[in-house]
Amino acid sequence: MAYITLLHQKRIILAVTGSIAVYKAVDLASKLTQAGALVDVIMTEAALQFITPLTFQSVTGRPVYTNLWEVGHGSGLPTHIAHVGLGEGADLLVVAPATANTLAKLAHGLADDLLSVTALAARCPLIVAPAMDGGMYLHPAMQANLHTLRERGAIIIEPDEGRFASGLVGKGRLPETPALIGHMRQALGQRGGLKGRQIIVTAGGTREPIDPVRFITNRSSGKQGYAIAQAAVDAGGSVTLITTTHDLPLPVGVTRVMVGSAAEMLHAVLDHSTQADALIMAAAVADFRPDRVAEQKIKKKDDSQEAPTLTLTRTPDILMQIKERRRTSGFPRVVVGFAAESEHLLAHARAKLERKGLDMLVANDITAPDAGFEVDTNRVVMLDADGSQTPLDLAQKSWIAEAIIARVAAKLQD
Ligand code: CTP
Repeated sequence: MAYITLLHQKRIILAVTGSIAVYKAVDLASKLTQAGALVDVIMTEAALQFITPLTFQSVTGRPVYTNLWEVGHGSGLPTHIAHVGLGEGADLLVVAPATANTLAKLAHGLADDLLSVTALAARCPLIVAPAMDGGMYLHPAMQANLHTLRERGAIIIEPDEGRFASGLVGKGRLPETPALIGHMRQALGQRGGLKGRQIIVTAGGTREPIDPVRFITNRSSGKQGYAIAQAAVDAGGSVTLITTTHDLPLPVGVTRVMVGSAAEMLHAVLDHSTQADALIMAAAVADFRPDRVAEQKIKKKDDSQEAPTLTLTRTPDILMQIKERRRTSGFPRVVVGFAAESEHLLAHARAKLERKGLDMLVANDITAPDAGFEVDTNRVVMLDADGSQTPLDLAQKSWIAEAIIARVAAKLQD
């Protein structure tokens, strides 16, 4: 797991309870630490039956708390009362895995161990990830406790379905680390600059059909668009991703709308952006499509070298239609386009920004091997409608995405 800006220096209490899924909590603690978070682990008595504190201490590099009556620990906590000190400075309290017993205690406000007392003292968001075998998760008592917690504002991460340690199959498995971290990002993002904002992002190359099995597309992987969707969630936005690709992991909190052709993308964008705060068109929309789509698969003739000739026609320009829409309705409030250019980058990009009536354009030189299509890194210039331009050095697409989202949030605030 790479560094995640949102998690950098965030104080996360990871409370671990007595479930065989603790092995996944070790991975979670490790990935959170690698992402830049400060992870304080609390283990319940039952958790100690499965694993020792040393394991968590080794991956977090920080003390592990097991005992309500422990003092100080030399860990620099603001008070010698461990549960108050832990809860006070925390950005997030995550109980993963959360057993039925611990969830019942949290729902009813019991306070008989370090975890339950810390949960009462903490003022940060609470996330619980239930994990339990044998249909316990579906028991009405369990569901009632989860309902109580949800009503009180806790975030419940739905367990996965699958095989339990007992050999039974059902719902109750702890989700994998990326899903758990995704929920944590969504919770932490609620304090961000896009809170309450509706953001539409497009990603991937459109597919223009030739016949039922063939299409014309381009080299766009959708990575930059997916990274922008994640950055928008990190900033607290309510995000819809209109995309042609489902090969990439969907960020938690993003609503995905799958489309194929430019025409389908146009309809989806128009439908979803009537009240949108921002539209970020990272998709590589085809400019041309076959003028007719064969109803049946085009067959070759065995005895001939003949090949069909494709006649192309123009696709609709989505941003030009959005420009019209904005003129009458004012929505989306902020529109960002992308420009993939192989020559005269800045001149072409500036002309595109003006022609399409954009607030901002992100220009890509697609001739560089480490930037643009398919790769994980990018090097772009952000051009503003006011004439300014900001070059961003070669960086991970996630970082470029954060820079774009920060700019969009600032524009919405103006
Ligand atoms: N775009 C669009 N509709 C299209 C083509 C492109 O909305 N039919 C959007 C892209 O999503 C991108 C921006 O317009 O945000 C610029 O795309 P690009 O392909 O670089 O530019 P074109 O408009 O195709 O212009 P040119 O052919 O001159 O490069």
